[in-house]
Amino acid sequence: MALIGVFDSGVGGLSILDEALRQLPQHHYIYLADSANAPYGEKTSEWIADRSLNLCRYLASKGCDAIVIACNTATAEAIKQIREAIAIPIIGVEPGIKPAAMQSQNNIVGVLATEATLKSDKFIALLNTLPNDCQFIKQAGAGLVQLIESGQADSVDTLELLAKHLEPIQDAGADTLVLGCTHYPFLRKSIRKLLGESITLIDTSDAVVRQLKRQIDLLKTESGNKEFGSVLFLSSKNEASLLSMAQDLMSADLTSHAVEARILGEVR
Ligand code: DGL
Repeated sequence: MALIGVFDSGVGGLSILDEALRQLPQHHYIYLADSANAPYGEKTSEWIADRSLNLCRYLASKGCDAIVIACNTATAEAIKQIREAIAIPIIGVEPGIKPAAMQSQNNIVGVLATEATLKSDKFIALLNTLPNDCQFIKQAGAGLVQLIESGQADSVDTLELLAKHLEPIQDAGADTLVLGCTHYPFLRKSIRKLLGESITLIDTSDAVVRQLKRQIDLLKTESGNKEFGSVLFLSSKNEASLLSMAQDLMSADLTSHAVEARILGEVR
């Protein structure tokens, strides 16, 4: 069985871990939430790159066979340096603008992501690979990560802020919306309330986990006989609240796994 590190600025990467536990339940996981420093999306590129590299080095030092950077912002700012520095498979996540452009009927696509992701060279380069017959309405979701981190994914405050952020996307008539931050799949209910059932929501967790599976298969780690592996939740802020948010936000039944939660000490 492989040991897989999953890292995010906070609880957003739980949307990826959830999918990983669905597709690859037999493996062992360390989920690292840097909630003491969330949101990353409003920090400088240098800070994000440095911190992300240090946390991935930490996960590698704990014996991870592969790491999923379950954060669009950290992927955009740091995946190149991380891949250069750490010799294990590193899987990143980026806004699904390609599948969105393919699925949109009217070629108007909203992209909700963090400011850092939208401003990053990596995202701009990705946009430039697409034919320009599709119009992308890009919107930074300032403040949303903080609300989700504080357990308010379904609150009235979140709905109000989301309504403001989604207005330009709605006004432009987008029929497809890219959830370009791993925290945002937890806003699905609120987004549906505001935009209705007909808009197509794109999140890339399924594709990310399929990519993880391909990489793990190549590693040929020993196959065990257990159906479910372990999950260690590490938080730089509060391990008990990370565990209870994981139980609330994820659809995976964590009772099937050997689960532990710990505080993350200082990492340099
Ligand atoms: N979950 C993250 C992402 O996918 C980061 C959000 C943040 O910390 O700003 O971008």
